[in-house]
Amino acid sequence: NKGKYEHYMQKEIHEQPESLTTTMRGRLIRGGSHKAKTVLLGGLKDHLKTIRRSRRIVFIGCGTSYNAALAARPILEELSGVPVTMEVASDLLDRQGPIYREDTAVFVSQSGETADTLLALEYALENGALCVGITNTVSSAIARHTHCGVHINAGAEIGVASTKAYTSQIVVMAMLALAIGGDTISNEAKREATIDGLIDLPNKVREVLHLDQEMKDLAKLLIAEQSLLVFGRGYNYATALEGALKVKEVALMHSEGILAGEMKHGPLALVDENLPIVVIATRDACFSKQQSVIQQLHARKGRLIVMCSKGDAAAVCPGESCRVIEVPQVEDCLQPVVNIIPLQLLAYHLTVLRGFNVDQPRNLAKSVTTQ
Ligand code: UD1
Ligand code: M6R
Repeated sequence: NKGKYEHYMQKEIHEQPESLTTTMRGRLIRGGSHKAKTVLLGGLKDHLKTIRRSRRIVFIGCGTSYNAALAARPILEELSGVPVTMEVASDLLDRQGPIYREDTAVFVSQSGETADTLLALEYALENGALCVGITNTVSSAIARHTHCGVHINAGAEIGVASTKAYTSQIVVMAMLALAIGGDTISNEAKREATIDGLIDLPNKVREVLHLDQEMKDLAKLLIAEQSLLVFGRGYNYATALEGALKVKEVALMHSEGILAGEMKHGPLALVDENLPIVVIATRDACFSKQQSVIQQLHARKGRLIVMCSKGDAAAVCPGESCRVIEVPQVEDCLQPVVNIIPLQLLAYHLTVLRGFNVDQPRNLAKSVTTQ
């Protein structure tokens, strides 16, 4: 049931304040004598010690689920101190890459039925790793075959383009980082800021959804373009990949997410006055590096669309030709949840304006159950 919406993708983008609330329900609690808030993930509580002691954590997934894990990697590394590596499921299988008994392998999948992810799970089970699932679908194959896990509880996702599952996956993995990180003194400030940030996140998402009309106007400007680049780094490298995947998948426009630190190693050659480029430059530890990327793109007459924190338009815009997307600022590790939303809206409006099928993009299936 699409309710007041024309498409499932549109409905699922707009229901994110509610889906995120459901994802967190009952999992952020007041505990201990000092009444500090803590995270309780029922499915993991008996396995946290093993995860903390593992030699590394390996995230495994495909498409948007892989991107969600990439968005959560920095906070997991920061809070747990355990090395975190990333594997696209098909590539792990192609290489028969090393997975060890001392590893924790985390399988991220909205449907819980993706063939590559499921085969990678079988492979990791054979190799003796602790296998953890993060899925949206209770009793799915991945939920059943993993040793333990967390349901993201985002509600059924119908649109082939994953939107609300992406933001709920990031929130679950941020909670996973908090649970693994535990109550160490060195983590205290970051932990409290992240928990407070999570509690307020649905409000910030509601706020960023007000950009709907602005993103429709931007889509009108981009309707006839051949290509769109998206530059991000740090916490928002994943936002660049995921924003580009949305545009490519539903609007059928070539789009590429680029790690901004790699700009001079090739992509800069593409820059001219015609190619539109989104640069994600919200406030975090990488901000000044992104300011310099913007300067360099501007010096080469790049057609810039800069996503920045509210109030930063003047600080990020090198000239009048630059467009800005101002978003509310949140804790750095949660910023990817806010930043993806304008790009989801942009992909949605581009698709409608270009006259393509929003919920059933050409050639794609919601769940890829064959290799
Ligand atoms: C569980 C109940 C929830 C109830 C809550 C009350 C289910 C599905 N969830 O939620 O309805 O409100 O207790 O305390 O009955 N699992 C995997 N692999 C996965 C995902 C999950 O093995 O990929 C396992 C978990 O380890 C756990 C079980 O499935 O044993 C349920 O996981 P989850 O729904 O996340 O647990 P709770 O949040 O505790
Ligand atoms: O169900 P899964 O999360 O395992 O699906 C993985 C990908 O097939 C999926 O995310 C795909 O990339 C989406 N169509 C992206 O919107």
